[in-house]
Amino acid sequence: MKDKINQLLEEVKQFKAESADSLEQFRIRFLGRKGLLQDLFDAFKELPGDQKRDVGQLLNVLKNEAQDKINLLKDTFESTEQGSVADNDLTKPANFREPGTRHPLQIVRNEMISIFSRLGFTVNEGPEIEDDWHNFSALNFPPEHPARDMQDTFFIEKDPDIALRTHTSSVQVRVMENNKPPIRSIFPGRVFRNEAISARAHCFFHQVEGLYIDRNVSFADLKQTLLYFSREMFAPDTQIRLRPSYFPFTEPSAEMDISCNLCGGKGCGFCKYTGWVEILGCGMVDPAVLENCGIDSKEYSGYAFGMGIERITNLKFQVKDLRMFSENDLRFLKQFESAG
Ligand code: PHE
Repeated sequence: MKDKINQLLEEVKQFKAESADSLEQFRIRFLGRKGLLQDLFDAFKELPGDQKRDVGQLLNVLKNEAQDKINLLKDTFESTEQGSVADNDLTKPANFREPGTRHPLQIVRNEMISIFSRLGFTVNEGPEIEDDWHNFSALNFPPEHPARDMQDTFFIEKDPDIALRTHTSSVQVRVMENNKPPIRSIFPGRVFRNEAISARAHCFFHQVEGLYIDRNVSFADLKQTLLYFSREMFAPDTQIRLRPSYFPFTEPSAEMDISCNLCGGKGCGFCKYTGWVEILGCGMVDPAVLENCGIDSKEYSGYAFGMGIERITNLKFQVKDLRMFSENDLRFLKQFESAG
């Protein structure tokens, strides 16, 4: 019997598992309920008393060796990624991991940053949770302005002073408060408005704000910057037009349209047969806003603009439903694989 045990001990020592499967077979053969060790322990019970001590010890050695071996090999299998050290075939293709793709909003945001950085704009960010001063008051919103209404703004815990920012113009205030002119920077970020979610509206979306403050900045500078941006973003022959508008923090204010990039301005269903699509709001920073932020409005002037990243992305990629941007549907996201 001792010979038999020693022989098995040798076998255990030599054993090399090729796969998790062969290790499991080894375990069953040695330690299973009807395995070799069970047989040996059964036979051990029948031995004459004087042999029991030696054989018993040897049997325990065998049992422990087998168990140690299994534990050791099990660890190797678990720590190798494929569950098998195994096939030892290094030419075998690795497990396929689907690579992620850039989100379309990220692609467009990066492109905007790249275009404006060519004009010398830096990038700044501000907090998504804002106070009344940065989101409204410093920007000249009168106390009774409808945008402050509960309808549009998400307030935090009923505190009328703290809300989710409704536009990235709040970052204008922060950057002007903390920097001396010249300032030339863009601020990408997420903004929130209390609107019912539909194909055309969402309770959050993204904007890129632009701000340029220096001596003698004029509306012509603004127009040229926006023309350059539009032609880089869309097509070299893109036309722009500025329509008078109103924002509390710019004077004069304008909204800008670009010639419809789908029909080239001829008129189509997308531009409602006008040939133009609106892409942003802009204007000369109101002197009162400069003063609110500690900038001398007699010495400095500046312009600001703000646009929705979703809007620009829709124009570039014809995404018809805003909800697609936040649903994480791979069938949607994978379509932008080659775009960014
Ligand atoms: N903050 C404005 C909006 O969200 C856009 C804007 C930015 C207008 C800067 C003028 C200047 O609609």
